[in-house]
Amino acid sequence: MGEKLTIAVQKSGRLQEDSLRLLKECGISIDNGKDQLKANASNFPLEVLYLRNSDIPQYVQDGVADIAIIGENVVIEKQKELEILQKLGFSKCRLAMALPKDVEYTGLEYFNGKKLATSYPNSLKQFLDANNLDCDIHVISGSVEIAPNIGLADGICDLVSSGSTLFKNGLVEVEEVLVSEACLVANKDISNLKSAILDRLLFRMKSVLAAKN
Ligand code: PRP
Ligand code: MG
Repeated sequence: MGEKLTIAVQKSGRLQEDSLRLLKECGISIDNGKDQLKANASNFPLEVLYLRNSDIPQYVQDGVADIAIIGENVVIEKQKELEILQKLGFSKCRLAMALPKDVEYTGLEYFNGKKLATSYPNSLKQFLDANNLDCDIHVISGSVEIAPNIGLADGICDLVSSGSTLFKNGLVEVEEVLVSEACLVANKDISNLKSAILDRLLFRMKSVLAAKN
């Protein structure tokens, strides 16, 4: 059997549809049984693993998957040794700090001594350190925007895309921590044989992306 490249994509979540569409636009057909967590392309030496978003960086670092399509925000947060090969232009969002809308925000120093809820503790800590701020970080894995309303935190640091989740929860964005979009990442030491396949895939991806601009 010839060499194959293994790519991890989201099993469910906001990047999944666009990730699979991109592979399709690259001319790659994936035989997908429903609920199948591993599938093969029929016309390209590629195997697809459907994984939980937050597990993907570790799998790529360990070489279980050679490459992956994932949000830059996750790559940054997980602090793994990965190579970002290509930004993919979809799933654009930002990691931002937000406060209840009735708070009179006076600037960054407002956050000193405050309690903040987030699913991105490493990224937030980096931002706070860079700005000499000392806060109490409370980690929750989802529904972060609810935290101020239930007295769990003074403010939050979470992803913002359309802004509708902030709005619905009476919060207002006050600081941008980082911007993110979907990207193709790779393990740092891919074999030569796999590199040749990756080059072919990247060539197709770049053409698809160029055609959209
Ligand atoms: C994500 C993110 C924000 C929201 C941003 O949450 O954590 O809450 O989307 O999108 P918006 O600005 O377009 O409203 P998600 O819905 O994935 O749920 P979770 O946080 O509970 O995982
Ligand atoms: Mg959320």
